[in-house]
Amino acid sequence: MLGIRRLLSWLAASAVLGQAALYDNIKQLPSGLSFDFIIVGGGTAGSVLANRLSENPQHNVLLIDAGPSNADVLLTMVPGYNWRLRHTQYYWNYTTIPQKGLNGRVFNYDRGHVLGGSSSVNAMFYTRGASSDYDRWANVTGDDGWSWSVSSHTCSRWRS
Ligand SMILES: *[C@@H]1O[C@H](CO)[C@@H](O)[C@H](O)[C@H]1NC(C)=O
Ligand SMILES: *[C@@H]1O[C@H](CO)[C@@H](O)[C@H](O)[C@H]1NC(C)=O
Repeated sequence: MLGIRRLLSWLAASAVLGQAALYDNIKQLPSGLSFDFIIVGGGTAGSVLANRLSENPQHNVLLIDAGPSNADVLLTMVPGYNWRLRHTQYYWNYTTIPQKGLNGRVFNYDRGHVLGGSSSVNAMFYTRGASSDYDRWANVTGDDGWSWSVSSHTCSRWRS
């Protein structure tokens, strides 16, 4: 698992003070702060969760991520250019095991080692996943808002 030294990006948000700060190293984090929530993982889920929690003026939130900040990293913003980020500090450099069905070839398995996680290295593409997953979430949560038919409507509004 991750050693503490690998957790390089620290985003502290305090809605009480109406401010957020980004630190590259734990040593930069001001002492004496306390947090109501500490979120480990600044990918899509962790970042959205930290943002939503910090909307409450009662909450101090610390978001910890491995890797550097994605701020001003041009190649994370250019559609289709994620391959230029491979084998840099922004990638975990994972590969697949040799694929039997593909003549034993090994492929890059792109995962972001950067604030924003793999959403920072996704070449600005996204996929919605399988409709059955959405319907299962609706079923498990008892909230029809998760269903494919309802969420599809929301997604079509984003696209337009
Ligand atoms: C990925 O590879 C590059 C080039 O060797 C290296 O600089 C970078 O630190 C590696 N990423 C991680 C998370 O180790
Ligand atoms: C939803 O849950 C019910 C009962 O738990 C089950 O019969 C049904 O197959 C589930 N539907 C989906 C789409 O998972």
